[in-house]
Amino acid sequence: MTNRVISVNRMTGAKNNLLAKCILAITVCWISASSASEKDKKMKPMPDEKTLLEARSNFEGAAYLNPAYSAEVRAKDVLSRMTLEEKTELVVGFNEFFIAPLPRFGLRAIYLTDASAGMHIRENLFKMDKSVSYPATVALAATWEPNLAQRYGAAISGECRAWGSDVLLGPGVNLYRSSECGRNFEYMGEDPLLAGMMATSYIRGIQSLDIMATGKHFICNNHEWRRHSSDIWVDERALRELYARAWYRMIHEGNVGAVMTSYNLLNGEKSSQSKAVISDFLKGEIGFKGLAMSDWGAVWDKVKAVESGLDLIMPKGQLDPEKTKQFEENLNRMSENILTACFRFGYYDREAKDEHFMTAYPEYEKTALETARRAITLLKNKDQLLPLNPDATGKILVTGPAAEKTPHCGGGSGWVKGYGHTHILGELKKILGDDRIVFSASPTEADLKAAAAVIVCIKTDDKEGTDRPFALDPAQEGLVQKAVNNQPRSIVIINSGGAIRMTDWKEQAGAIVHAYFAGQYGGTAIAEILTGKVNPSGKLPFTMEKEFTDSPAVHDYERSEGVDRTQHGWGYKPPVKVNYNEKIFIGYRWYEKKQIATQYPFGHGLSYTTFDYSDLQVEKTADHISVTLSISNTGSRAGAETVQIYYADPESSVERPNKELCGFRKVDLMPGETSTVTIQIPVQDLTFYDVIKKAWKLEAGEYRLLVGSSSADIRAQSRFQQEQDVWFSLPVAK
Ligand code: BGC
Repeated sequence: MTNRVISVNRMTGAKNNLLAKCILAITVCWISASSASEKDKKMKPMPDEKTLLEARSNFEGAAYLNPAYSAEVRAKDVLSRMTLEEKTELVVGFNEFFIAPLPRFGLRAIYLTDASAGMHIRENLFKMDKSVSYPATVALAATWEPNLAQRYGAAISGECRAWGSDVLLGPGVNLYRSSECGRNFEYMGEDPLLAGMMATSYIRGIQSLDIMATGKHFICNNHEWRRHSSDIWVDERALRELYARAWYRMIHEGNVGAVMTSYNLLNGEKSSQSKAVISDFLKGEIGFKGLAMSDWGAVWDKVKAVESGLDLIMPKGQLDPEKTKQFEENLNRMSENILTACFRFGYYDREAKDEHFMTAYPEYEKTALETARRAITLLKNKDQLLPLNPDATGKILVTGPAAEKTPHCGGGSGWVKGYGHTHILGELKKILGDDRIVFSASPTEADLKAAAAVIVCIKTDDKEGTDRPFALDPAQEGLVQKAVNNQPRSIVIINSGGAIRMTDWKEQAGAIVHAYFAGQYGGTAIAEILTGKVNPSGKLPFTMEKEFTDSPAVHDYERSEGVDRTQHGWGYKPPVKVNYNEKIFIGYRWYEKKQIATQYPFGHGLSYTTFDYSDLQVEKTADHISVTLSISNTGSRAGAETVQIYYADPESSVERPNKELCGFRKVDLMPGETSTVTIQIPVQDLTFYDVIKKAWKLEAGEYRLLVGSSSADIRAQSRFQQEQDVWFSLPVAK
């Protein structure tokens, strides 16, 4: 017993030293940032180091100071000592991006940073010299590599540790339903399995270094237009089988620490203050046990929010202790969940800033470049126009607004400054030589005709808060058309968070590459792919439709010429109903059901080599479908292929899509190499939501199993039998 007490005291002492350093670090950060923030009179002062240290010494021996106790016990201990006023202060944001400090207990403020593709530097709040701009998460999804997603998450997490931020406000996983959504670049495409697997690995990477990840935005924030007032009406199956499906995985397999609720309303109530969304669905049915925070300014009614199951109202607000007295039970739950999350990630036991993580910057940068190389997607390559031969001599004309300044990311909270940016024009010159590359912002017909090839670099302006037109702006549309009309060897590079309208130029162009927003080294990766230093291996995580009128989302915009997609507005707005009438059919599920031809299907992406699929074998056990097949590289270059596995239940008792993705694997192969891969698919991935039983059903019957190189390029098929109906409470294997 004595021994135990002594060791506890020693640990507490060590922790107090750590805390001292930690407070110092945070104070230094704060002071260095203070010159920028002096103008901002609204900032609340941070407690100083001395106050926090003295406070701790008043609680010598308390359980919350002892890391030997669980996060839950420590949180309860603090809660038992808190006043009503302290609780009302903790449950609302502090200085916009912090969880409030608890000075009386010596507990520091916790800094929250945007966002999914790197750290968004906010100079007025937090001193940071640099942060890597990684390819947008839609590009990460285009790699189809969960391992890379984990590495990408760990790299951002390392940066958070290096600079002293505790919580990352990402990943975003709202499904791609509308090509016009201004934030598609921040999400992970249209398929819930792909998005869920990539986001889960990303979360594992972030949380591997004890930074809390925040899945966002829960739920159905699938467009930006009127994002504060769109009232989404979605049926029970679509809500679960599409929009929430990734979350089950992120919560149960990724153990994500925090969830951010969304701006929109769901079935008549703001998500961020909806008991149905937060208490009943997120925490009840899905089983989330962590910290639920609102999006910034998403709460219209604080009392409703407090009663809804939300734990943290962001970014600020005042709760009157007298008026909230009657809600003390709720304030207790909110405070306890906040504190448990903070203890779980060790925030109160360590310095926020750890210089040691600075030394890994070369690795973070490498991860950004590697992700871009693996994401960029070759959509078309007529007569093997690409790769460009580095030894040829003909001049290559480069044009378009994204050539000299290649956009590295979209705008808004997900924007990341980055450094050392590379651009397509400069990088092509490095590889092919200054002499071979000619730039012209507005080439003449003669210039285009005279060139050996033309590279047209186009972009869309994607950002938070507004949607964007599907069609290119007239200047870029004109430029592409002029190029392809005069030069069959025209290569179009698209820099965008999603699909764009391709008019006749799609047929005329020699090659088309989708680069997404490829991060600070995007220019390098694009040039390496154009010149064959890297063999492209990305696959589209969304469908590229021909016309926006083909999309299931078209009706949301009350389509008429000249509709203003930029309306969003803050604060209360009369809600506008948006019906997800297409139900469980978005993306390829929709286009296949409606038999609408697309420009490029989900999962599409070419390589400079070719692959053969053979020897498909499917075995079924009670828990899994085991799919084995051989993939051969039949060309002359090393390359990577993403094998996609879809399933179909043609004789279901309910309406189901023609097929749905249920597994995938990316395989790297040398020329002539064959690899045999086995992919295990948990049977929960084949379930649908039974609205009568309120459970996930694996229905008896014969299923089809389709293996392909894209959703529209199926190379092998098989069947398997499910003998009896089985119900599950969750659509993930736990
Ligand atoms: C965005 C969130 C973001 C938050 C904080 C909001 O406008 O919707 O994604 O994390 O701001 O910047």
